[in-house]
Amino acid sequence: MTSNDPLLQPYQLKHLTLKNRVMSTSHEPAYSEDGMPKQRYRLYHAEKAKGGMALTMTAGSAIVSRDSPAAFGNLHVYDDRIVPWLAELADACHEHDCKVMIQITHLGRRTGWNKADWLPVLSASPVREPAHRAFPKTIEDWDIERIVADYASAAQRCQAAGLDGIEFESYGHLMDGFWSPATNHRDDEFGGSLDNRLRFTNMVLDAVRASVGEKFVVGIRMVADEDFEKGLSKQEGIEIAGRLANSGKVDFLNIIRGSIESDAALTKVIPVAGMRSSPHLDFAGEVRAATKFPTFHAARISDVATARHAIATGKLDMVGMTRAHIADPHIIKKVIEGREHEIRPCVGATYCLDRIYEGGEALCVHNAATGREAEIPHIIVKTEGPKQKIVVIGAGAGGLEVARVAAERGHKVTVLEASSQAGGQIRLATQNPRRKELIGIIDWRLAELARLGVEIRYDTWAEKDDVLALSPDVVVVATGGLPQNPPLTAGDNLVTSSWDIMAGSVKPAENVLLYDDNGGHQGMGAAELIANAGSKLELVSPERFFAPEMGGMNHVPYMRAFQEKGVIITINTRLRSVRREGNQLVAELASDFAAGWRGERRVDQVVVEHGTLPLDDLYLSLKPLSKNGGAVDYERLVSGGDIFPKRNPEGGFVLFRIGDAVASRNIHAAIYDGIRFGLRI
Ligand SMILES: Cc1cc2nc3c(=O)[nH]c(=O)nc-3n(C[C@H](O)[C@H](O)[C@H](O)COP(=O)(O)O)c2cc1C
Ligand code: SF4
Repeated sequence: MTSNDPLLQPYQLKHLTLKNRVMSTSHEPAYSEDGMPKQRYRLYHAEKAKGGMALTMTAGSAIVSRDSPAAFGNLHVYDDRIVPWLAELADACHEHDCKVMIQITHLGRRTGWNKADWLPVLSASPVREPAHRAFPKTIEDWDIERIVADYASAAQRCQAAGLDGIEFESYGHLMDGFWSPATNHRDDEFGGSLDNRLRFTNMVLDAVRASVGEKFVVGIRMVADEDFEKGLSKQEGIEIAGRLANSGKVDFLNIIRGSIESDAALTKVIPVAGMRSSPHLDFAGEVRAATKFPTFHAARISDVATARHAIATGKLDMVGMTRAHIADPHIIKKVIEGREHEIRPCVGATYCLDRIYEGGEALCVHNAATGREAEIPHIIVKTEGPKQKIVVIGAGAGGLEVARVAAERGHKVTVLEASSQAGGQIRLATQNPRRKELIGIIDWRLAELARLGVEIRYDTWAEKDDVLALSPDVVVVATGGLPQNPPLTAGDNLVTSSWDIMAGSVKPAENVLLYDDNGGHQGMGAAELIANAGSKLELVSPERFFAPEMGGMNHVPYMRAFQEKGVIITINTRLRSVRREGNQLVAELASDFAAGWRGERRVDQVVVEHGTLPLDDLYLSLKPLSKNGGAVDYERLVSGGDIFPKRNPEGGFVLFRIGDAVASRNIHAAIYDGIRFGLRI
């Protein structure tokens, strides 16, 4: 049956028929090995292809030259060895009628001189990019010649690999470095007039066309308005789009608005949780109307309804749902099958993007299968073994995930939750209104558990006998933890936990010191609430840089709130003790660096964040009664085999714990535990 859903209509791009209107725009997940897209990379894209998308733009900024060293795991498209790897990737996607292209680039100043071959970084003019901090040299004539030739040979490699096309990255990189008045201060034939500023782009386009011919699809992902004072104006950006469209040298425009030279700027191009949905869709529509040319665009179009609107109203020809597919690679399949409500939502946490810098690989905060396709399936199949009775204690992220996976596998699952609501620490985090979308992590799982017929018993504080009364085959302790104080020499009873602030059980006082000795969202969330409540706040951290566990994108909205509210930030400083003096508290500060140094702050409230201690009473009481004594074979957990060693022949059930019930970690860790253990029951 043919559908009249605008999203499912095919799109003719030159000779290519794209089977629907949804694509994944280029993004570097940092899954490359030696700069090559090997199995992990291939399976990641093949999963999206399986999930029904029409076009996957592979790589993120695959590098065409050696002096554009990988800044975040970029593919080496300057190397002939890439051809067979790309060919395998293309074949794996083509099998599902998903077209495959690749984004290629010279990063220009958006990389580091101290990477790979230690070659100098270059740019149109020697203007430093704040995010990567390299001072670039001014590109010379011989650089231009070799880089133009590099683009051409890179394009040829992509064509030889059987890809359906390429796109140039032209925002924040070398190519648009020539376009922008902010980064091009030249007075030669590459600077000044728009003709001059487009000269390098035209040289690249001519060389690439000469190498790949007229038929191969060549597009450009381009900034059409840098949206800052010194940057490329909207007027010039649309003029460039028009000229490129009329040049006959490109086949599509993929529209970007904004600058990416700093983390703060990047969040306007790639908005994170709490920021506007689809902020540049109307702008991309304006470019399409002005150029009447195939127009692609992505920027926080995370739900199907908005994507559908983008196509139905003629703003776009192809809609990018990039992070949405990192969260759920099967969006289109679910739309086609009338299962739209089963789509796992992208909640904008942007753990994915922050992880490429912080952890060297993109991971979704709540889909642990993404990027791990070789070991963890996106579609959970029924077990061939016996159906078991599983009792999960705790309905936080980890508990709900293990319950979901076990139920999908056909087991009978009961969840016991002490409070009246599911969600645990995620629900706490969403008390910061800016992060309320995180509740999607819980809501999606609750909907899945309802679909799978899992019973959740709320307001049930489970003791050992309550669990035993259910005669379980497997018991999963997912009870999470409770906040702990940082080590203090005195004053443990005088401090307030960040949880109390988040939960609203303690109101922020007038003058607050918040000591974050954890380094992640927990302390920052409380700090943001306190600052927004109008308190005078000093944030103290023992780290060299506060909240080091958090990536650059997630840092931005906190820092914005802190600066707007005048929060004082003190790093390299420990909280040593707290004492009461009159109706105030005195926080005594110390330093790891200067042993005798002491500082003091007189405040109304001292708030502390130091992670959690596991709530493990139930686990410890069940341990002697279990078959495996709570033990897990980590080697087998990673490599395969039965993961629960038989340590107690008298034991009645298998027991294990996950998430913060083991040790204080994060949402992804709890969910990863949930699925990898759930798959092994
Ligand atoms: C992990 C990650 C890496 C990215 N790397 C690139 C890149 O190399 N080149 C690029 O043009 N865009 C890159 N992007 C941006 C995406 O293509 C897309 O524009 C962005 O995620 C906004 O779209 P979305 O809201 O649908 O995710 C990256 C995004 C993510 C999440
Ligand atoms: S980490 Fe967050 S932003 Fe990234 S894909 Fe997952 S849900 Fe979306």
